[in-house]
Amino acid sequence: MSTIQLIHKKEELKSILSALKSAGKSIGFVPTMGALHEGHKALVVKASRENDLVVVSIFVNPTQFNNKEDLALYPRTLDADLELLKTIENGIVFVPDAATIYPEKTSFKPFDLGILDKVMEGKHRPGHFDGVVHVVHNLFEIVEPTKAYFGQKDFQQLAVIRKMNAHYGFPIEIIACETLREESGLAMSSRNMRLSEQEKKDALILFETLQFVKENRSNYPPNELIVKALEFFNSGNLILEYLDIVEVESLENTMSWNNSSVCCIAAYCGTVRLIDNLLL
Ligand code: PAF
Repeated sequence: MSTIQLIHKKEELKSILSALKSAGKSIGFVPTMGALHEGHKALVVKASRENDLVVVSIFVNPTQFNNKEDLALYPRTLDADLELLKTIENGIVFVPDAATIYPEKTSFKPFDLGILDKVMEGKHRPGHFDGVVHVVHNLFEIVEPTKAYFGQKDFQQLAVIRKMNAHYGFPIEIIACETLREESGLAMSSRNMRLSEQEKKDALILFETLQFVKENRSNYPPNELIVKALEFFNSGNLILEYLDIVEVESLENTMSWNNSSVCCIAAYCGTVRLIDNLLL
């Protein structure tokens, strides 16, 4: 039985991938920033089942952090990450350095994401999605996967990735994967490692608020439901950043219940910023 292979050099990765592609094999890709948990593993397992090979990249991308402290505190746990993925037989973990991802000579041209980076995360983390687009663009150019897998927990990121994939004309199928939750309902996140046991309990108000919104969808129009949901959320201890009900495709605020909507929330639990969302 073989185990997952660790590669640092782009040239080594590209030579393995090009041999496989010439033989008509499919490549699944799971970009990550490490600090992997069962939610990431579910993406990797799905990608490994649906493709001949899965590449998991681990790169803590500085350009998507608008807060230096958040970047410094982001957990780096390569040994544990490799341990978590060791049973993936058809996998490569690609751990590049910054010079590989951001070479001096680049073909990358930023583009206007429209409303997608103006609302919710975009409003509170200026420049964040520019960083995400840049790194995913460069990773897509290196890996050239058949399919790329992203968690729905980062709902807005998924919308941004779909738009950038179409904009740059990558022939890559974007696969959205359901959010994995702890038994308590807390969405799995690398940031949960920084929560105390008490904070993990406090953080449940995020999912409870989303469920409150879903349960009350038929009782109120969206603008009234937001007010009720804020009251509900404020019974907990977290500091809210935003709570929005938006249309799934456009991310415009939902004015009536005609189209599919998603409720998205972000809040601070102590010093840890958490996000979650629920399709309504
Ligand atoms: O979702 C993430 O972990 C990151 O935003 C991504 C897609 C790996 C880009 O750095």
